[in-house]
Amino acid sequence: MQRTQEMTSVQPDWENFYPRPVSDKVPFFNKDGRVYDCLFAQQFNRDLLTLLFRTADRLREVTQHKDGADYVSGLLSDKRAMLYFAQPSTRTFMSFLNACHVIGVKTSEIRDTSTSSEVKGETPEDTVRTFSSYVDMIIMRHPAPNFVEKTAWLMNRTGRPVPVVNGGSGKDQHPTQALLDVYTLYRSFNGDLDGRHVVMVGDLKRGRTVRSLSYLMKNYSGIRLSFVSPKEFRMEPDILEFLKRHGIPYEETEDFKGAMRTADAIYMTRIQDEHDKAGESKAVDYSPFYFKREHLKDIKENCIIMHPLPRRHEIDVAVDADPRAMYWRQERNGMWARAALIAYIFGVDGKIR
Ligand code: CP
Repeated sequence: MQRTQEMTSVQPDWENFYPRPVSDKVPFFNKDGRVYDCLFAQQFNRDLLTLLFRTADRLREVTQHKDGADYVSGLLSDKRAMLYFAQPSTRTFMSFLNACHVIGVKTSEIRDTSTSSEVKGETPEDTVRTFSSYVDMIIMRHPAPNFVEKTAWLMNRTGRPVPVVNGGSGKDQHPTQALLDVYTLYRSFNGDLDGRHVVMVGDLKRGRTVRSLSYLMKNYSGIRLSFVSPKEFRMEPDILEFLKRHGIPYEETEDFKGAMRTADAIYMTRIQDEHDKAGESKAVDYSPFYFKREHLKDIKENCIIMHPLPRRHEIDVAVDADPRAMYWRQERNGMWARAALIAYIFGVDGKIR
């Protein structure tokens, strides 16, 4: 997976590169017309999503038997991945780790930067460059906006580039969460996503999952979105602008009960108070944006309830037993979708389908 000299030599400095629109930057993170560094939800088109979902479906079938599990775990047994998670994570970390194991990729990890030589003054840029000396892929979560993208940009200018996968960056993007979210919709609706009404609820301003999921909605026709949030945490204008540009109708409302009645999917999120500057979350009454047990009677029979998790109080635990509660299956879907993505990036997905 060597980059051509042409690719590396024509790129501008980072300061001139990163403000560009994503559509301009995507070619730099592709290779031979395929996604190489997975950084933005906008990199997934409908064909790629379908291909990844078919691969994920096949992986879960094949690995039910030892022969199949042994076969897929041999596909990438020559590859190693670094999981660099500089922000807390349970699901993304665990699902990527186990996705690697499903397809035979060996793993190493840093989850606490105080155990890295960054404490000796090494820059994060030099630290991540070091990983590429040892591994064939970097899977990364980082609190700093653009840092995952910058890592991929840096790698692509070195003599030993390795693909970089975004496991969540700043408040901006969580593309593989959006991938597993759409995979969950795909499985729940037997592949028929067109014409669905998706209701996103909660702290939409600071939630990177709802941003990435909104981007992916452009791949389906007849989608309608409702953004239900307190006025303090409304969806950011850049996403609304994106939806307008792609002709996706949306409403912004505080009327959760009204929006849920026609929903095909309700996507709950927690308040993202880790991004507070001065305790502003405490000033907001979040309780109108909880999905309570009594709401089960108000939603459609085939509506699914989703959540990227972790949750606090925004979904009653009593809701978990309802067959429409999809969030536990959703988090397991993450392992299969991420395994499919890694297989695709290394070019072995065709040996699974
Ligand atoms: N959904 C999600 O990103 O969960 P974690 O923060 O536990 O990885």
